[in-house]
Amino acid sequence: MTGRVQSKVALVTGGASGVGLEVVKLLLAEGAKVAFSDINEAAGRQLAAELGERAMFVRHDVSSEEDWTGVIAAVQQRFGVLNVLVNNAGILLAGDMESGRLADFRRLLQINTESVFIGCQQGMAAMKEKGGSIVNMASVSSWLPVEQYAGYSASKAAVAALTRAAALNCRKQGYAVRVNSIHPDGIYTPMMQASLPRGVSKEMVLHDAANNRGGRAYMPERIAQLVLFLASDESSVISGSELRADNSILGMGL
Ligand SMILES: NC(=O)c1ccc[n+]([C@@H]2O[C@H](COP(=O)([O-])OP(=O)(O)OC[C@H]3O[C@@H](n4cnc5c(N)ncnc54)[C@H](O)[C@@H]3O)[C@@H](O)[C@H]2O)c1
Repeated sequence: MTGRVQSKVALVTGGASGVGLEVVKLLLAEGAKVAFSDINEAAGRQLAAELGERAMFVRHDVSSEEDWTGVIAAVQQRFGVLNVLVNNAGILLAGDMESGRLADFRRLLQINTESVFIGCQQGMAAMKEKGGSIVNMASVSSWLPVEQYAGYSASKAAVAALTRAAALNCRKQGYAVRVNSIHPDGIYTPMMQASLPRGVSKEMVLHDAANNRGGRAYMPERIAQLVLFLASDESSVISGSELRADNSILGMGL
């Protein structure tokens, strides 16, 4: 099947790397016009030049409300409308509950959580007349805190709560805007690669799909498929949902 998001206009934050980049490529391949934003301007501009006419890059710090206003206006000006917002940009900082630094926790909340608050508010305002879909990238750590990433886990738990609140708001106000979150386990991206201990290879962490064995990491293309589903009209009755992409790890209590 192709054209699953034909003629829709999407904005993907953190689109210059990892999951965001795969989401941008997949939405383009399925017929959407795609604006992608990132704080990494050099990478974003280079990619936009390679991706062609239906792609557009905007420099964006997702923790800045002012930036958000400018980015959404730029997308509407270029493509006329906004139908899909993927709140994907995020950072990972280590720190457990004893050694974690308050400054790092605040930074995590700013980039991972405040960004989703602002994005949902402005995305809903932009979409409430014509309808749309907002997809928030959370993590399995929303429910199963990773000991050495306490602040990160909390920032993603808040993304789940904001998602439900935004979805409920849309339903109560009668806006045809759906809001859902995706909760992946490991994804083999630059974020994960930077956090792997020395000597741990890609093969050691990747999940072996054919045998349902091996590590807990998935290639970002597989997570992009879930974003595509939630962005498309195929998921028209799904809002306020938390899509667990952890291959049952949560059930195993790991
Ligand atoms: N990699 C994993 O194992 C994993 C697991 C679960 C959830 N996630 C989530 O998936 C999302 C994407 O992560 P990824 O693994 O692709 O990471 P990544 O580091 O490869 O990509 C993140 C992108 O976000 C951008 N970014 C960072 N701060 C920004 C800011 N202030 N404003 C705008 N852009 C900013 C970066 O420049 C980068 O391009 C994140 O929300 C992350 O928390 C990742």
